[in-house]
Formats: sequence, C-alpha cells, structure tokens
Amino acid sequence: MADSHLIDIESLPTPVLRALIARARALAEGDRPRPIDRPVANLFLEPSTRTRVSFELAARRLGMDVINLEPAHSSTCKGESLYDTAATLAAMGVAALVLRLTDSTELDRLHRAMPTGICLLNAGDGTRAHPSQALLDAATLEQAGIDWRGAAVALIGDIRHSRVANSDIALFRRLGVGEIRIAGPEPYLPAPDPSPWIRRCPDLGSAIDQATVIVCLRVQRERIEADRLPDPEQFHRKWGLTVDALERYAPNAWVLHPGPVNRGVEMSADLVEHPRSLISAQVRMGVFMRMAIFEHWLTP
Ligand code: NCD
Repeated sequence: MADSHLIDIESLPTPVLRALIARARALAEGDRPRPIDRPVANLFLEPSTRTRVSFELAARRLGMDVINLEPAHSSTCKGESLYDTAATLAAMGVAALVLRLTDSTELDRLHRAMPTGICLLNAGDGTRAHPSQALLDAATLEQAGIDWRGAAVALIGDIRHSRVANSDIALFRRLGVGEIRIAGPEPYLPAPDPSPWIRRCPDLGSAIDQATVIVCLRVQRERIEADRLPDPEQFHRKWGLTVDALERYAPNAWVLHPGPVNRGVEMSADLVEHPRSLISAQVRMGVFMRMAIFEHWLTP
C-alpha cells in the first residue's frame, strides 16, 4: 500500500493529505477521537520538544501506551540495527515507531525492509522531510481561514538545511498555492529549482511583499560547519522578520515558525506573541494532527 508508513508528503495521495488536515481540524473542534488499544514507541535520535511531546500527548489522548526509548539507554547504542529494534517492538505488539533521525538513508533502509505489523512514522529525517510538521502547518492555516489558491507563501532563513521547508513546499503546492518565495543567505538556499512557482528573492522585503503566509526558519546550526555559521546579529539585520517589516510589507500575513524560535535572530522577540503570529496555534494543532495521524495509520 502506498501509505502504510508515513515517510514524506510526496508519497501521500492528495485526498489522504486533505483528509488528515480535515480530521485534525475536527479533533481541534472537539470531535471524539477513535481509541487505539495498542502501544506506540518514540525513538528520537535528535533533540525535540514539540514534536516528541505532541506525538506522546496525541497517543495518550487516544488511550495508547507510550514507550519513550532513550537512545543512550536502549540497544541502538549497543550496535543493534534500527531493523532489529523495530522487529523487537513489533514482536511485543507495538503498533507504531515514531522515529526521528539525522540520516535519511537510514530511514530509507528501514522503510524498504520494515518488519511487518509495525508502522513507521517519520518525525523528521535530517534535512529531508518533516511531514507531520507540514500537515499541522496546513491545518493551522486552514483554521485561520487561508484560501490556498490565492495564497503567496514566503519561506525565510535557512531553507537548504530545513526538512520543514521541503515538506511545507511539497504540501502547500499540493494544496494549490500558486507562488512560493524563498529568501535567505545564499549559502543557505537550495540549488536553483527550475519550477516556475518557486521564486528566489534577493531580500526580505521583496520576499514578504504582500505575502499571505511567512514561514520563518531557524539556521540549522547542527547541520552546518562552525566556520560557515552566520553571525546572529548580522543575520537578524538582513533576514530577521520584525513587526516593522511585517506592518510595512505584509500587514495581513500570518506568521509561522516550527520552533524552536531563536528570538532576535530569525524573528524579533515581540513577533512571537504578535496578533499575526500563529506559533502557539501551530503547537496546539500539533497534538491534533498527530492524533489524526495515529487514527489514519493505526485504525481500520
Ligand atoms: C523543526 C525540526 O526539528 O525540524 N522543529 C520541529 O520539529 N518543530 C525545526 C527546527 O528544528 O528548526
């Protein structure tokens, strides 16, 4: 089946994407969740607050037991392969493995030879994909009233190393967004993309001008060599979103950030709680989206 695991946006049919968004919104509005009577395991080989906690809360709200595997205290650090970890969990009746890792090839390898009886849910792999984040971003924007067809979305900051940017772009495009603009320091932009609907902008002003949505992205310091890291103050001066810039170029835009936010770097501190900011709405929707994901992949 094309979608027996959640790997990335690209491999999911559009009706499934739309159904997940609709279900997360319905759950957010109080729809009763469908209980699931099997455990889930979380294995995060990269740090995470929002994603890990929201997968855990979502599972608990559906009545699932949650096993949090601590990399330092589990057999992955004794040389056990991810396959053998997944097979061990499957043998104990664990329904899903929520996995975050740095190396996308490891995720591919596991996906190609996933043991039967356990579902793989990608919670972010390296710089490549973060499908549940993109889905919750879309659900948050729909809840705010976005009209996808008329929307112009600007992604600002470190696009090249951002799995959120990849998944957001893939999903927003699938939902009908006609124009996606990207902007940031040259070394942090992806290789030029010939798609006519992706526009590289030379500065913050032109990128956000009359935009419907602005997604601010953190510099992925952990994926960049120390001598290539930008100076945070310089970065903020050139690429940081401020209330001033928002009011001047895009007063009606919604501002998104997947978190964690470095206040005063990719956005000014006062923008986080600004009325146009959807950052806490994103975090809130994150739990409902992960509930929708568990329901979709784990119930008949
Ligand atoms: C993002 C991630 O881990 O990719 N955070 C998240 O999941 N909410 C973005 C980031 O770390 O910058």
